[in-house]
Amino acid sequence: MKKKHIHILATGGTIAGQAASETATTGYQAGAIGVEELLAAVPELRDVAEVSGETIAAIDSKDMTSEIWLRLAVRTQELLQRDDVDGVVITHGTDTLEETAYFLHLTVHSDKPVVLTGAMRPATALSADGPMNLLQAVLVAADPEACGCGVLVVLNGRIDGAREVTKMHTTALDTFQSPETGALGTVQDGQPVFYHIPLRAHTVDSEFAVTRQTKLPKVAILYGHADDDGFLVRAACEAGAKGIVYAGMGNGSIPWPVVQELTKAVGQGVLVVRSTRGAAGRVVYAEEVYEDFAFIPSDTLNPQKARVLLQLALLETHKHEEIRAMFARY
Ligand code: SIN
Repeated sequence: MKKKHIHILATGGTIAGQAASETATTGYQAGAIGVEELLAAVPELRDVAEVSGETIAAIDSKDMTSEIWLRLAVRTQELLQRDDVDGVVITHGTDTLEETAYFLHLTVHSDKPVVLTGAMRPATALSADGPMNLLQAVLVAADPEACGCGVLVVLNGRIDGAREVTKMHTTALDTFQSPETGALGTVQDGQPVFYHIPLRAHTVDSEFAVTRQTKLPKVAILYGHADDDGFLVRAACEAGAKGIVYAGMGNGSIPWPVVQELTKAVGQGVLVVRSTRGAAGRVVYAEEVYEDFAFIPSDTLNPQKARVLLQLALLETHKHEEIRAMFARY
């Protein structure tokens, strides 16, 4: 059978990281190793697929920008429209991998697999996890069962969906989890196995389209805490935020002084989403007052994913009811 053609887009991160010694797992330079070297380190890739690669960026993913997101979305779309490309794998730093994955989940319009992977140990480390993660990502991208699942994240033998997956641990290899819904599948001994498929709208069913010229609106994430008097809401509005995601307590609860500041923000046309600083769970209806002030609950989207959806939603509309419906659909 003809091998699938999987194209790799490299963006940097620890998977391409270089440290001073084999035992160093912190204090290394992320994104130091080129895509050709990454591919050459895993000759087994050639048994699985025909593999090609290119560099989109070489950054530590804490420095991810919307400009790179747009470049990635446009390039991924171009590649997937080609008959000779069957899937795309994106190597990425783990720190913001989940946001990039969700952005592409909503902006790339194709059934073909898109898989993000990374590593927790630099490429120069003893027992580096990058090579196995890259191999498993290519295996998943070449698997017909991955078609139509939206953007996937593959690390440490687990297949997660872009909407639910999050980085849970600062250094552990099994840091990526989908706390509320669980993984979609696993990869073992060279074989991906799927158990679930994502039902929320994505990729071909998504209404969001971007180009390299798209200007994503400024959306702030504010983290709730004791004694919060809403000063960050005022600062965000003064800085020109068009949306605010408030990472509230528990089920998206917001201290009363902050509610008052957010209400003023809504009055100025700023869209407000209630998310949570909790590690898992839905944010749903809590108090009538939040409804009165048109705060939109984020469902299971964590603050960083809610920010991505709100940015894309604001490209389409500023109507609160329409954006609320998008948070129920995506
Ligand atoms: C990064 O996100 O670029 C650095 C950390 C990592 O990849 O694990």
